[in-house]
Amino acid sequence: MSKNIVILVSGRGSNMRKIVEAAIPGARIAAVISNRPTAEGLTWAEERGIATAALDHRNFDSRDAFDAELAKLIDSHAPDLVVLAGFMRILTPGFVNHYQGRLINVHPSLLPAFTGLNTHQRAIDEGVKLAGCTIHFVTAELDHGPIIAQAAVPVLEDDTAERLAERVLQEEHELYPLAVRWFVENRLTIDGHRVHVSPAHA
Ligand code: GAR
Repeated sequence: MSKNIVILVSGRGSNMRKIVEAAIPGARIAAVISNRPTAEGLTWAEERGIATAALDHRNFDSRDAFDAELAKLIDSHAPDLVVLAGFMRILTPGFVNHYQGRLINVHPSLLPAFTGLNTHQRAIDEGVKLAGCTIHFVTAELDHGPIIAQAAVPVLEDDTAERLAERVLQEEHELYPLAVRWFVENRLTIDGHRVHVSPAHA
């Protein structure tokens, strides 16, 4: 039986597109949901016949109220996996705990370095020689969940945040569909803060 995947986006949705285009055997993209009704990613998904929905966070009085409604919407698609793909909202512990072990995120830095925003400029300013991206399970502590996969790119002498972001994004596009594939193939085991990836079955 295939696994239902719900993808949350806030904007461009290029990672979401790569996951959809990967056409992972055993995965069904059940819905793409955004907190921003004008998100480009929503239009792209809709044009491909994927169920979409927008839930504008500005219509809610509190984070709890928004997250409760969002969870209801997501759960109406019976998800096995919820994928945050450029979903730019901090989620409440109640929401995160509800999806424990089935909620993953892409973050544009080599965690645990540079949690939060403006990761590329901060990496340049700190003078690090390697930047990159991280795919991780989401826990209540922001950007600190068990790490599934990482990819590194060199920080170049004349890098700008935009150029570095672009090169890191290319890595995200390779790594995120791969991590989703591992999940769908039941190859991920969370062990404390570590994630073990078991070999593919022949
Ligand atoms: C990606 O670079 C992703 O790593 C980042 O937003 C971008 C979304 O691009 N996510 C975060 O910063 C999460 N804190 P996309 O909409 O084209 O996938």
